[in-house]
Amino acid sequence: MGINVALDGPSGAGKSTIAKKIAARLGYIYVDTGALYRSVAYYTVSQGISPDDSKKVIAALEGCKVGLEYREGSQCVIVNGEDVSGKIRTPEISMAASKVSAIPEVRSFLFDLQKDIAAKNDIIMDGRDIGTVVLPDAQVKIFLTASAEERANRRFKELQEKGDPSTYEEVLADINQRDYNDTHRETAPLKKAEDAIEVDSTSMTLEEVVSHIAGIITEKTGAAPVKVKKEKKERKPLLDFSGVEPVKRGKKLNPVKMFFYTILRYMVLGGFKIAYNLKFEGKENVPKDGSNIFASNHRGYVDPVFISLACRVPNTFMAKEELFHSKKFFVWIIKKFGAFPVERGKGDMQAINTSFEKLNSGRNLVIFPEGTRSHDGKVGRGKTGVALIAAVAQCPVIPVGINYQGEKLKFRKKVVIRFGKPISPEQLKITTPGAKELKLLRTTIMDAIVDLVH
Ligand code: DC
Repeated sequence: MGINVALDGPSGAGKSTIAKKIAARLGYIYVDTGALYRSVAYYTVSQGISPDDSKKVIAALEGCKVGLEYREGSQCVIVNGEDVSGKIRTPEISMAASKVSAIPEVRSFLFDLQKDIAAKNDIIMDGRDIGTVVLPDAQVKIFLTASAEERANRRFKELQEKGDPSTYEEVLADINQRDYNDTHRETAPLKKAEDAIEVDSTSMTLEEVVSHIAGIITEKTGAAPVKVKKEKKERKPLLDFSGVEPVKRGKKLNPVKMFFYTILRYMVLGGFKIAYNLKFEGKENVPKDGSNIFASNHRGYVDPVFISLACRVPNTFMAKEELFHSKKFFVWIIKKFGAFPVERGKGDMQAINTSFEKLNSGRNLVIFPEGTRSHDGKVGRGKTGVALIAAVAQCPVIPVGINYQGEKLKFRKKVVIRFGKPISPEQLKITTPGAKELKLLRTTIMDAIVDLVH
């Protein structure tokens, strides 16, 4: 047996973030057992089975093959060959996981997988029953807690950054409900093992908790931090979208909200017409319904508003993650305008999934494929993300050219927003997100934007 560290505690105590950091410091493998319960929940929900119907959940286990893989140091959960790691992190699946994890058959279904991986590796495993049931002989057992309010507060901030509309009260109620489920179930309830060390992180920073726990582990096992060898980078396959359905377009938005949104839009439009010499060209190319992607060049922070003023349906837009660390008021404003964060330079699955959600909800999505503003007005190369989302979602892309007179947006100066003809992935016969297809779609989109900037 390798070194086994059991890290248990309630939902939202920060176990996974902390365990990941400790694993990296000590050179252990991090095993997130919550993800296993989530994947069973995901599978049953995707089969149309209610997580409350334990008989059907148990029957469904036969068709559910769960495995763990480690890619570039990160754990991926595979269900029947599909990597579901990104799809199991929704509030719906969280609650479903809390329910299916109370079923003894589900627990024994996942037991061997957890035991097996712990027997062969140095691991830090997080969960609810690791110190009590799965690894009763672990060399180190930590029970990580924090007050429900603090945990709700942390989770609420995370959800806000992802653009999730849940309120603090909803998140707190959710945490309390999951605590209740996890501690009151008959099989393997969440409880501190007798020989576990309790760490209350309520008033500690993340770094303080990591150092404290890493200190306990080093003291108990004599393990010294190791330099983690960087795994040889295998050529990463394109992200797996085999299970993602094309967007169902044409969803109608709430008419009352739309009414107030339209009034607000006309008021802002009036203000902008006073402030700038604002013109829209090619408005006939802007679809009346939602679920469209607008791909635009990027000159200034107001660009999303300019585009939204020409659309009947409210837009959402991808904004670089760094912007969400700005002044609170600014973050509040951009979120109100439908912004959600994207980490640039890597396949940010969270942002891609949020894009699909927004498009499915009937709203439009605005993307600036260049990823950053251009100060000289020239249009850069553009990333393939926009093509990827369009190809998977099968939504039309409307190219947009933003033109300012002069370098910067100035009072009463001319601003022309041009909309080009929609580019449909279907027409280009792009039905799969293969590298070649994406490049073609990206080039078609960027060329169309360039044509609109003059
Ligand atoms: O840690 P998490 O939120 O991802 O876990 C999801 C659910 O799975 C949680 O409600 C409790 C359950 N769980 C469990 O019962 N036993 C574990 N070892 C890990 C998670």
